[in-house]
Amino acid sequence: MGEFEAPHVVLLIDDDGAAIADVLRERVPDVRLHVRPLVALTQSDLDEADACIGFRSRGDLDWRGLRWVHCSGAGHDAFTQSIELAPGALVSRTIGGMPQRMAEYVTARLLAFTQRLPELLRQQQAREWNRLKPRALAGTHALILGVGPMGQRVAETLSQLEVHCTGLGTHARAVEGFDTVVTGEGLDEHLEAVDWVVGVLPLTPATRGLLGAPLFARLRGACVVNIGRGATLDETALLVALETGHVAGAALDVFEQEPLPADSPLWGHPQVLVSPHVAAPTLAHEVADAFLAVWHAREAGTPHPLVVR
Ligand code: GLV
Repeated sequence: MGEFEAPHVVLLIDDDGAAIADVLRERVPDVRLHVRPLVALTQSDLDEADACIGFRSRGDLDWRGLRWVHCSGAGHDAFTQSIELAPGALVSRTIGGMPQRMAEYVTARLLAFTQRLPELLRQQQAREWNRLKPRALAGTHALILGVGPMGQRVAETLSQLEVHCTGLGTHARAVEGFDTVVTGEGLDEHLEAVDWVVGVLPLTPATRGLLGAPLFARLRGACVVNIGRGATLDETALLVALETGHVAGAALDVFEQEPLPADSPLWGHPQVLVSPHVAAPTLAHEVADAFLAVWHAREAGTPHPLVVR
């Protein structure tokens, strides 16, 4: 851990930048806070700042002058995969209430499929009385890709509804909420028996396209939920798998390209539920709390779980 120098100028490029600045202004009044929408960000804004708080980055600017980037969400790929930071730059992230929000999102989607809400809504719009019966959620099997704080809360919540949860992690171990946690090699034997595949994965070279044709080909009518990152799922392969029946339905919150282009076939697909990257937004005070918690830990020279590197 290098020597920590407190930031004097903090740039806020998050959509909620002004609200985050309002919280920080009270707590660290001596720090200069520059709120800039990402689209309007200039190189001189970046060059003046010591630290930056945001969710997305831009590849046309040079970010190497920053000493600290704090992500306002949990996924830090915009800063660790898409742009170059100075080698020693601190990167930290926010989790706040995300695990619970994600658990509620996933529960709502699984129940939407078992309760057949999309079909019932279509019937209602057509004033059609057709007694479509709900299916049971209890007793089904979920494979949750990602066993960090989010995947774990999803599993704990689903297991309370008597869903059996298998996790995919980087190493096999016991994790609360999961019946079992397997690694990549152990995955295949579970795929044929699962009813749900839930992606809660960060975007890394290893996870890019993991929800792709080889995995879908092993499924027997499972539904796919993706709340990690869009590029962990191959949308073309998903559309094929929906066609062949390997995948019975999908609920997607994240996409290869965001906003999802208006001409994407996912929008109008009868078996696909689309939401605009809203499964688990962080709140302004959670972002400020996380930023300050990392700051205090760095000043004290102690490790902090929200530090990425
Ligand atoms: C949301 O996508 C996040 O990474 O926080």
